[in-house]
Amino acid sequence: MINIIFALALVNHVVTALPSIVLERATAAKQVGYISVSVATLWTTSSKPRPLVDAPALTNPADIDGWLSSMNVSQYLDLTDKSRTQTQALYGAQVGIISEQDGWYEIEAIGQPTPKDPIGYPGWVPTAQVSLDSSYGKLQSKNPFAAINKVATAPLYRDALMKEKYLEISYDTRLPVIAHIGRLIQVAVPGGGSAYLSANHATVYGSVSNIPYPTGNDLVKAGKLFLGRPYLWGGASGFAFDCSGLTHTLYDAHGITIARDAGSQADFTGHGTNVARSDLQAGDLMYYASNITSSSSIYHVTMYIGNNEMIEAHGAGIPVKISPVRFGDDYWGAQRFLTH
Ligand SMILES: *[C@@H]1O[C@H](CO)[C@@H](O)[C@H](O)[C@H]1NC(C)=O
Ligand SMILES: *[C@@H]1O[C@H](CO)[C@@H](O)[C@H](O)[C@H]1NC(C)=O
Repeated sequence: MINIIFALALVNHVVTALPSIVLERATAAKQVGYISVSVATLWTTSSKPRPLVDAPALTNPADIDGWLSSMNVSQYLDLTDKSRTQTQALYGAQVGIISEQDGWYEIEAIGQPTPKDPIGYPGWVPTAQVSLDSSYGKLQSKNPFAAINKVATAPLYRDALMKEKYLEISYDTRLPVIAHIGRLIQVAVPGGGSAYLSANHATVYGSVSNIPYPTGNDLVKAGKLFLGRPYLWGGASGFAFDCSGLTHTLYDAHGITIARDAGSQADFTGHGTNVARSDLQAGDLMYYASNITSSSSIYHVTMYIGNNEMIEAHGAGIPVKISPVRFGDDYWGAQRFLTH
């Protein structure tokens, strides 16, 4: 909808209006919301989910494990081939709401920059998966937060005895802290009320800038939490990843924002510095392209882990794995996002 309006506006204006489009798009969000399922999948349009197959991903609560385990390889491939999914947003994350139509919101996943929208990756989610709870928003803006950073996914409990599981939530989920007593972390949840996390799974930080600056090996150790997890086109949670969802999330969990997509990681955010093959260090990202002189043709990213090996979410049907480094015809080059 918004795109059509801007496109029509363009027709009536001179070409010099072009640079303002990105800005207008970024400021189009009128309202903020908070993801109220463990993982919300952002669809390209509201007609992209397939009846039955994708139903478990559309409800509140979302059944992410059920969805992932029910798909066969051709159903996973079809998500890529038909460009159905864009990215995912995690429980409690703030999103910008751009528009609403027939039970769906078009949202921006804040913290996942893309040239399409520097504020956050755009896509469509069922309205039932977004809470408009402003009291949660206030806690999110002023309280310390608990970040899941020790496991791929973690249980969130309703009770302080940590017996009654409420949801399984992803690595890099951040929830505002109400109280922290020993191993028990009480957090606020979107929609009101609170829940409990174990300090075995999460760390409490006063703010994002308090997250310790990682070493390459910290990133590698975290990446290994996801070995064997499924590849999911658009996947950006500890349940399943696509190639750039994995690298974006690993850096994000360590307090460093890089672009959401592989090609834009390599050139749009401009945070990386080029690294020669002979100088690769753990944590560097390695890019593959159909035309190695053009970053816009990058289609894959992996993370170097040392000893001529890399970790990657390679493609549909191939779980996250460690591979020998590849320097084939499609090797575009590597970039380093750690500055010290
Ligand atoms: C995947 O599942 C669908 C739906 O059950 C079925 O039609 C298709 O043949 C299956 N494909 C493979 C490769 O097993
Ligand atoms: C590869 O990209 C470069 C730079 O954008 C371009 O000049 C060249 O024509 C491209 N090659 C092919 C085969 O598309």
